[in-house]
Amino acid sequence: MSEPKPTFLHDYRPPAYRVTHTELSFDLEPGATRVKASLHLERHPQREAGSPLMLDGEQLELKSIAIDGQPLDDDEYSLSETGLTVHRVPERFRLDTEVEIAPEENTALEGLYLSNGMYCTQCEAEGFRRITFYPDRPDVMATFSTTVIGDQARLPVLLSNGNPVERGELPNGKHFVTWEDPHPKPCYLFALVGGDLKKVEDRFTTMSGREVALQIWVEEENLGKTGHAMASLKRAMKWDEETYGREYDLDLFMIVAVNDFNMGAMENKGLNIFNSAAVLTHPKTATDVAFQRVESIVAHEYFHNWSGNRVTCRDWFQLSLKEGFTVFRDQCFSADANSAPVKRIEDASFFRTAQFAEDAGPTAHPVRPDHYIEIGNFYTLTIYEKGAEVVRMLCNLVGWETFRRGSDLYFERFDGQAVTIEDFVSCMAEVSGLDLSQFMRWYSQAGTPEIDAYGEYDYANAEYHLTLRQRTPVTPGQADKQPLHIPVRMGLVGTKSGRDLSLNLEGEDLGTAAVIHLREAEQSFVFTDVSEAPVPSLLRGFSAPVQLRFPYSREDLAFLLANDSDGFNRWDAGQRLAMLALDDLIAAHRNGVEKVMDPRIVEAFRALLERGSDDKAVLAEMLTLPSEAYIAEQQPLVDVDAIHAARTFVKQSLAVTLRDEFMALFEANRSDEPYAPEPEQIGARSLKNVALSYLMAIEDEQGIELTQAQFDADHNMTDVRHALTLLTHSSRDELADPALRAFGEKWAHDPLVMDQWFSLQVTRPQADALDRVKFLMAHPAFSMKNPNNIRALIGAFANQNRVNFHRADGESYRLLADVVIELNRLNPEVAARLITPLTRWQRFDEARQGLMKGELERIRAERLSPNVYEVVEKALA
Ligand code: TRP
Ligand code: ZN
Repeated sequence: MSEPKPTFLHDYRPPAYRVTHTELSFDLEPGATRVKASLHLERHPQREAGSPLMLDGEQLELKSIAIDGQPLDDDEYSLSETGLTVHRVPERFRLDTEVEIAPEENTALEGLYLSNGMYCTQCEAEGFRRITFYPDRPDVMATFSTTVIGDQARLPVLLSNGNPVERGELPNGKHFVTWEDPHPKPCYLFALVGGDLKKVEDRFTTMSGREVALQIWVEEENLGKTGHAMASLKRAMKWDEETYGREYDLDLFMIVAVNDFNMGAMENKGLNIFNSAAVLTHPKTATDVAFQRVESIVAHEYFHNWSGNRVTCRDWFQLSLKEGFTVFRDQCFSADANSAPVKRIEDASFFRTAQFAEDAGPTAHPVRPDHYIEIGNFYTLTIYEKGAEVVRMLCNLVGWETFRRGSDLYFERFDGQAVTIEDFVSCMAEVSGLDLSQFMRWYSQAGTPEIDAYGEYDYANAEYHLTLRQRTPVTPGQADKQPLHIPVRMGLVGTKSGRDLSLNLEGEDLGTAAVIHLREAEQSFVFTDVSEAPVPSLLRGFSAPVQLRFPYSREDLAFLLANDSDGFNRWDAGQRLAMLALDDLIAAHRNGVEKVMDPRIVEAFRALLERGSDDKAVLAEMLTLPSEAYIAEQQPLVDVDAIHAARTFVKQSLAVTLRDEFMALFEANRSDEPYAPEPEQIGARSLKNVALSYLMAIEDEQGIELTQAQFDADHNMTDVRHALTLLTHSSRDELADPALRAFGEKWAHDPLVMDQWFSLQVTRPQADALDRVKFLMAHPAFSMKNPNNIRALIGAFANQNRVNFHRADGESYRLLADVVIELNRLNPEVAARLITPLTRWQRFDEARQGLMKGELERIRAERLSPNVYEVVEKALA
């Protein structure tokens, strides 16, 4: 592996040759699968005649090659580690190749591989080059005809994109199926599946009256776990028709569940392939969170059929064109299907923790990067989630109806094409008449903008003066930052009335809630006729992905928590209030001073509990303290022990004072109703379980009894897992151990439940967590080759168990580096992701910095995949 070279956006050129039609044939064998490809090629009109034909190809053994039926001589082409060059080709021609590949040796899970005896593919972003020689880039779009041949007994089911057009028997116990996909597509959307699978079938009638067969293919024992995914799929299909006017375009839509998968799921045309964790559910095995995740991922992949497949990306720098838009679409779908305010709170709170951290670290990059070494490293929170926030801002800027017209124009104008982010934004500019040129900086500038806001009420003139100052911190490779166009949704809440006051800005009546546009580095806004002193409510609904600071007093925040008309900002006021208390307690812990709980926080929580809420899920969010990860994000220097101690102290203080209230809340929200993953029930369960976690924070007898009883009742996985987590994270091993053992034995046969069992053990705060990680790595249910296992055991430990991952002796860093080094050989894509917590070394004290960098250097000394190389180089730069 020589030193990998970056690819640059500014080097983009159309391909020299395009493929109009692709015929493939696979003869599936574990150690030696034969792939025949017939590519119908023609010179690109914008490229000069006489260019050589260069095709991507990796780990392929070429068996034969011919042009228009003429086998090539050895000197007519050359082969390298990364591809094949044919020196002279005609203007239009057919290229036939045959290669051999070894699916059983493929542990990277890119290209064609075996998972639990079943063949499957993952081609995004650049996996197709491990299947056959091809121009593996998204701007080459062809129709595909695919024949899959396999052993009839072991592989009764053979699937690919599109519609099955022919099937038959062959000698030696083999059979074949031929599939045709009439929609031109880039090869990253190609898929193939072969295995002993069973299907659940349903149907959907589209808005124009076409019948679509819906199939979910799983291993037999999972047939009873597909209902929720199927129901979610039908809801998503309907929603996309009603909300975006988008109809499905084939007669068949298939989902396949596989156990070994690098990410959540993949939107292959007509044949979505899913991580089994993102599709299988059952009340006894999956939590509410898992049910909701399945719903949103099923929708996400389905929505890609338009935003990604019908209109795709010109090159991988445009990845957020499909991902940002599709995440925005799935977020809106989930908001409509569940509690909309809670969905926004969950998304924003996750974003402010994880994306902010990415944007502040050494791997920070713009929503549209301008170079990369390994595109597999760019399936990031910035591309997906910040990309979605940027699309959401566009929608808010032009208004939903105009946004919808822009979306229609985009799909109509670019249908069947591979396009750029400019193409998308220009549709929005065209339908709205807005100048979005400054807005485009959101795509090119990395880093989280910080807004410092100041406000002053002028009694004499009844004016409120609001000043906003924006600044984006320096990120790697980007020293100069320009001001962004930032929509700030806001209101002024009257301190006497508790109501939103009317907003008169420079003579314009904006009603009681408005979006102001911050475009300059510093800008002042004067609101007139402000009848009483207000507290400003800023960035309502998290209207822009920025960090906003305002010098709120604790009284201001308690006031907003009680009165803000915006549910999101009510929640945020509570979080800010808790943060002020936590800051004091973190300082006290560090200074060895006795910790004292601020009574104002307790009273604000008491008021919250007394007031209650119609939306139980919102109340559950409001009663949840900021996570340790979020608190860390807000500190200049991360002290994991102080953060943990402070947060535990707040939780226990609240539990001691408000014990009866939490008990009442728990009792009021228990239920024996049969489990349903519905918003009402989910809200009640969250509230009950939040209450239980406060009761368990002080580990009094009744709390323990209730937790134990909830575990024993075995009503549904949400409650069982929550109870088991509380027992396992308590200080009493005599409670944890028997429950863990019983659960582990009961579910030993179910890999998705075992993953949960791994995670909840390795996230316990007790000092033995690292030993447990090592012990569980030897458990029969754990394999280094299974990404879900890695994430559940190693990933959960490194990302969610902050006190133990950042042990002062550096032993956890060492363990993570050991795993990364092993995984670098097996699965580079997953290995590179796993390094993330080590890349954040700048945030810690000097001793830990040294230990973390030491482990990064130890990784760097290995022979590295481009994936791991790129991340480690950036982290040490
Ligand atoms: N495009 C997929 C999605 O967003 C995700 C994806 C990208 C992926 N690369 C992958 C999935 C590699 C599995 C493996 O839905
Ligand atoms: Zn996606």
